[in-house]
Amino acid sequence: MTPSVDASDWYRHPLYYDIAFAEGTREEADFLEAVLEHYQQGKRRKKATILEPASGSGRLVIEMVRRGHRVDGFDISLPMLRYSRRRAGELPAEGRDQISFRRSRMQSFRGPRNHFDLIHCLLSTFKYLLTEEEAISHLRRAASALRSGGLYVLGIHLANYRHPVRDHEQWIGERDGIRVTCDTITSPADPSTRLEQLSNLLRVKRQGIRTVEKIETHWACRTYDASELRRLIASVPAFEIAGCHDFAHRIGCTRLLDDSKEDIVVVLRKGVMS
Ligand SMILES: C[S@@+](CC[C@H](N)C(=O)[O-])C[C@H]1O[C@@H](n2cnc3c(N)ncnc32)[C@H](O)[C@@H]1O
Repeated sequence: MTPSVDASDWYRHPLYYDIAFAEGTREEADFLEAVLEHYQQGKRRKKATILEPASGSGRLVIEMVRRGHRVDGFDISLPMLRYSRRRAGELPAEGRDQISFRRSRMQSFRGPRNHFDLIHCLLSTFKYLLTEEEAISHLRRAASALRSGGLYVLGIHLANYRHPVRDHEQWIGERDGIRVTCDTITSPADPSTRLEQLSNLLRVKRQGIRTVEKIETHWACRTYDASELRRLIASVPAFEIAGCHDFAHRIGCTRLLDDSKEDIVVVLRKGVMS
C-alpha cells in the first residue's frame, strides 16, 4: 500500500509532536529550575510563577507543574491547546489548580503586569515571530508581565550567514507502540530577507500496523546572528543580559553572545528599576 502524505501542519498532530519532543523535557525543566536558583535576585520563592508562550503540547508546562510551580501556557494552535488541557486534566487536583492554558499569540498576548518569576521560550520557537516589530512587541509584553528581577529564557539557533549550509537533523521518539521519526531540513539563512525556510517530515509507525503515516510541514523562520540578537535585546531596555548558555542546558556551562556556535540560550533579567 502507498503511504499517504498529509501536507497539513504538524502542530495539528499534538500526540506525535509530544512523542517526538519528550526526550529533552526533564533536562530542560532541570535547567529552568537551575536558572531560577542561579539568576533570580531579591526575594526568591521556592515555587515559581511561570509563563510559557507557545506552549505546544504542554510537555514543559505539565513537567513544571509536577515540580510544584504555578504555570500558565498559551498557544495559537487549537489542537495543541486541546491536547494540553486533556493532559492537565489527568493531573492530581492540586496540580490542576496550578495550571492554565489559553489561546493567544506571542506578538499580542496580554497578561497580568509584574506577575511572573520566569517566562521561557526554547527550541527556536521565538523565530516564529517573523518581523522585528513582532519580536519587540513580544519582548515588551514579556517584560511587562515579569516582576522586577524576573527572568526571560530565550533559546534559539543563530544563523551562520558566512557559511550558508542546508542543515538536516533527524531524531526519533517512541511511546506506547508509536514510533515517530522526525526529519527537519533548514535552508541557508538569507541575510537580506532575514528568513530561513524549514521543512519537516514526520513518519509515524504504529505497532502492529504496516502502513507508515507521513506528515509534511513547510514554514519560514526569522533569522538572527549574534549582533542582530544583541540589537533586538537592546531595543527592549527593560531587559539586561544576565547570562548565556547553549542547548546542553547546563547551568555550569556558559558561553558568550557571539557567533562561535549556533545554539544559544540567553537569560534576560528585568531590571529592578523597570
Ligand atoms: C516548536 S513548538 C514549541 C512548543 C513548546 N514551547 C515546547 O517547548 O515543546 C512551537 C509552538 O509554537 C506555536 N506557535 C507558532 N507561532 C505562534 C504564535 N505566533 N503565537 C503563539 N503560538 C505560536 C505552535 O502552534 C507550536 O505549538
